[in-house]
Amino acid sequence: MTPFRVGLLGHGTVGSAFAELLAERAADVEAATGRRPEITGVLTRTRGDAAEVIDGSDLVVELIGGLEPAREYILRAIRTGKHVVTANKAVLSQHGEEIYAAAREAGVQLRFEAAVGGVVPVIRVIHETLAAAHIDRVHGIVNGTTNYILSEMARTGASYEEALSEAQELGYAEADPSDDVSGRDAAAKMAILARLAFGARVGLDDVSYEGVENLTREDIAYAKELDLSLKLVGTAERTGGGLSVRVHPTFLFGAHPLAAIGGSFNAVTIESPAITEVTLSGPGAGGSQTASAVLGDVVSAIIPPAALPLPPVDEPIVSDVESAFYLHLEVADRPGVLAQVAEILGLQGVSVKSVVQHGLGDDARLEMVVHRVLESRFLAAVDLIGRLEFLRSPPRVIRVIEETF
Ligand SMILES: NC(=O)c1ccc[n+]([C@@H]2O[C@H](COP(=O)([O-])OP(=O)(O)OC[C@H]3O[C@@H](n4cnc5c(N)ncnc54)[C@H](OP(=O)(O)O)[C@@H]3O)[C@@H](O)[C@H]2O)c1
Repeated sequence: MTPFRVGLLGHGTVGSAFAELLAERAADVEAATGRRPEITGVLTRTRGDAAEVIDGSDLVVELIGGLEPAREYILRAIRTGKHVVTANKAVLSQHGEEIYAAAREAGVQLRFEAAVGGVVPVIRVIHETLAAAHIDRVHGIVNGTTNYILSEMARTGASYEEALSEAQELGYAEADPSDDVSGRDAAAKMAILARLAFGARVGLDDVSYEGVENLTREDIAYAKELDLSLKLVGTAERTGGGLSVRVHPTFLFGAHPLAAIGGSFNAVTIESPAITEVTLSGPGAGGSQTASAVLGDVVSAIIPPAALPLPPVDEPIVSDVESAFYLHLEVADRPGVLAQVAEILGLQGVSVKSVVQHGLGDDARLEMVVHRVLESRFLAAVDLIGRLEFLRSPPRVIRVIEETF
């Protein structure tokens, strides 16, 4: 039997771990599939020729990252009839439609399990296992760096800056962490998940996102009193008017499956009336972990299942959606304050779930969680509350997921 020729583009953290893992596991893969995978060409900035590596392979593994030349090489591979495996969320979230369409047209496998959630098999589960479930909502902790930072802030009382520099020292955060802490990396991954879960055209530009840079240790400390934990959560959901895909710092009640996901782990919950809820969790990054997901895709490509993903349907993207919220107010401690706040919330149709009040000498701190309400209505109420003369500092607002399972 001729070997299954793998062209490897990129030999960095993941690429080198992949090459090592493939050499270790080639015999097992052969036993399972009847073909022995073999790396027949490697491209880096200083080694190899892209055209030669691609043309001389049956399957191309793209582990360069970024937009170009990754996009160009992926398209070249597809158009010359090669299967492609990639871990590149940036290129899929920004040039996905072009790449998916080219793969459908060429009839080749395009697999990208490692682009979202590292080794967590969420792409396969959404595309294959839950192919018949009508998915309503996906929540994900899909960035390990920010989850590590928030977990440390909660565990040790560290500030955001302290937790970030610790994450950098331990290798959980890059020297330039901006894509992670701004929420952009998570937004790219949520675009890919939404594209698969809903079959609709969703790209990075459709995802609104907010990062963790402005969170304070006080946000986390106060929320503990309400049994809430703070996570950077990506949400992709069907709403009455269309799809919403977003990433925000979010409070979760202790019983929510994502509340317990600590450190640099990733997790995704998938909700559908047919299955209630499924949660998958595991390491979200790391060379050897990601390489394992990449090799899994190579094995799947040798024994091909259905093409991935299906053609898009057009659904509008909506921006104003319902959510529960946490509201934190520092106010003068005098009679009537709570009543005025409650009246403004009531006029906007905002219903309060719980309130905690603390005296701070002449001032008081009010923390409340409100039930799901349209974001625009809640923010209109907060805007009015922010103008009340007894307020001591601007209101702080954080989204809350109310559901527990
Ligand atoms: N690291 C993780 O834990 C992780 C987890 C999940 C997904 N991913 C994804 O996996 C991919 C690779 O990440 P990584 O961490 O392995 O990156 P990396 O360590 O920076 O390695 C990148 C590799 O690509 C090569 N390269 C860069 N620009 C190139 C160009 N213009 N032409 C040819 N080769 C080029 C580099 O060449 P040189 O060796 O010459 O520098 C290097 O070998 C990215 O899409 C990333 O998002 C990574």
